[in-house]
Amino acid sequence: MGIITVTGGNKLSGELNVHGAKNSALPILAATVLIKGETVIHNCPKLSDINAAINILRHLGCIVKRDGHTITVNSKNITESFIPDSLMREMRSSIIFLGALIARTGNAKLSSPGGCELGPRPIDIHIAALKNLGVDITEEGGLLNCKVKNKLKGKIINFPVPSVGATENALIAATVAEGKTVIHNAAREPEISDLANFLRMAGAKITGENIGIIEVEGVKRLNSLEHRVISDRIEAATYMSCAAATGGEIYLKKINPDFLLPVIEVFNKSGCEIVTGVNGLWLKAPKQIKSVETVKTYYYPGFPTDAAPTTLAMLLKSNGATVFVENIFQNRYKYVDELKRFGANISVEGKVAIVFGKEKLYGAKVECTDLRGGAATVVAALSSVGTSFINKIYHIDRGYENLVENLKNLGADISRK
Ligand code: EPU
Repeated sequence: MGIITVTGGNKLSGELNVHGAKNSALPILAATVLIKGETVIHNCPKLSDINAAINILRHLGCIVKRDGHTITVNSKNITESFIPDSLMREMRSSIIFLGALIARTGNAKLSSPGGCELGPRPIDIHIAALKNLGVDITEEGGLLNCKVKNKLKGKIINFPVPSVGATENALIAATVAEGKTVIHNAAREPEISDLANFLRMAGAKITGENIGIIEVEGVKRLNSLEHRVISDRIEAATYMSCAAATGGEIYLKKINPDFLLPVIEVFNKSGCEIVTGVNGLWLKAPKQIKSVETVKTYYYPGFPTDAAPTTLAMLLKSNGATVFVENIFQNRYKYVDELKRFGANISVEGKVAIVFGKEKLYGAKVECTDLRGGAATVVAALSSVGTSFINKIYHIDRGYENLVENLKNLGADISRK
């Protein structure tokens, strides 16, 4: 199972290359199912979620090779349109295979993902969009049975909320639908733009992904290509929290700071000095972290929900109170109980968490409740007096490549067994 041991108190200092974005690599890997040839994807992080996506691709008949951070997928022969429950369960986001699989084979059968650590994770918006494009979808015994009725046909799609995954599914399917699709209220995350760029390079006709109204003119086929995944803004935000919480200084390389503007704003308010460059970000923590009034998560370009847990942990030793409002997921505060084990003072009521800064935190035995909550416990442990033991670290392995080695290189007293 693995355990991370951290003895807190060391100031982190040094530089780090940010990895490729998990949440870009996953939909791009799914989209390769549509390409009847070889696709080379660079900058794919080495994570268990990426392994889960590779397992699904192989199950579908793709030949997948991995060389370091480069993944080559040959989707010439797709032999399967059913994804068994065991593969679907390996990661929640396996639902992003739905659009590509239907568009390629006309059929898809997979289990409905249900809930997860962040609360209910409905897929109604994905389903409605695909139905709109001409897919017949029925559900029996937890299995989604999807069949293209005649042909995928371009349509106007209106999303009630800008769901990232539903935008990806609709966008992927629309690239090869007959005619024009317009997706209103589409998600605008940088990972959506990366997917759109990938699909465009493959021959898709897409505009408007930056403004949330995506127009897609369907094409007959997509072609082989080579693509480099953008860097991971959430991984970057996590290391910013680690450095800030320890009074340290960090230079993050290979990250576009434009993706991090709302995060930078909060860290500036907390007293961190930040200098950004074209492809990097330098952060120096103040002697005393300041509280930040309010941090409200929202769809991009709002403050990212995935950066909230580590930012909250960074503020545990601030000089006052900070109010967090979680507007994306219903049940994101499970990790707060773990942070309290370090002596943190946090109160939670519905979607609001209030952090009252404490002078000291103390090493504790904790567990990861989910990926970003797990990272938050690492931030707290780094800034605590004494030794902490973090369990259930398989959650962390879903989204952070070499977290322990990277923190050790920055000066942390951290190990993994
Ligand atoms: N929603 C619905 N119906 C749907 C789809 C979504 O009601 O059919 C709701 C969700 O319940 C949630 C909101 O819409 O309240 C936003 O969910 P979204 O669909 O945007 O999330 P997602 O696509 O499932 C991606 C990331 C998450 C990230 C969210 C929000 C991937 C693989 N996952 O999830 O990443 O938190 O967007 O930005 O891209 C993580 O990396 O730790 C992670 C959880």
